[in-house]
Amino acid sequence: MACRNCSPRPSEEARMTPWHDVGEPGDFPDGAAWPVRLNGHEVAVFRLGDALHALADRCTHGMARLSEGYVEDGCVECPLHQALFDIATGVPRCGPATEAVRRFPVRVVAGRVEVQA
Ligand code: FES
Repeated sequence: MACRNCSPRPSEEARMTPWHDVGEPGDFPDGAAWPVRLNGHEVAVFRLGDALHALADRCTHGMARLSEGYVEDGCVECPLHQALFDIATGVPRCGPATEAVRRFPVRVVAGRVEVQA
């Protein structure tokens, strides 16, 4: 178990980045994407079973919105050229995209979903 002195500390940027309320867990249907705009960031919130994830709502190959993509087997397929991104990690699983999509931290506090952006 990590103690207070040896556990990783959040960076100054992470501590200063605000959390935004985006709804209740039930607002996010399993296997679908929900687009939100937070602090100037276009973000797509996904539910995979009990887990919530947030990715930049922009494919790293082009300008397509991943919130308009098809979700299957833990991945979202870009609607433009069909790159596949792992929703939990943002890592591309299939080209033509080669760069990971930015991930945003997600938490549930007092029954509300919050995304840090
Ligand atoms: S814009 Fe997404 S794969 Fe080309």
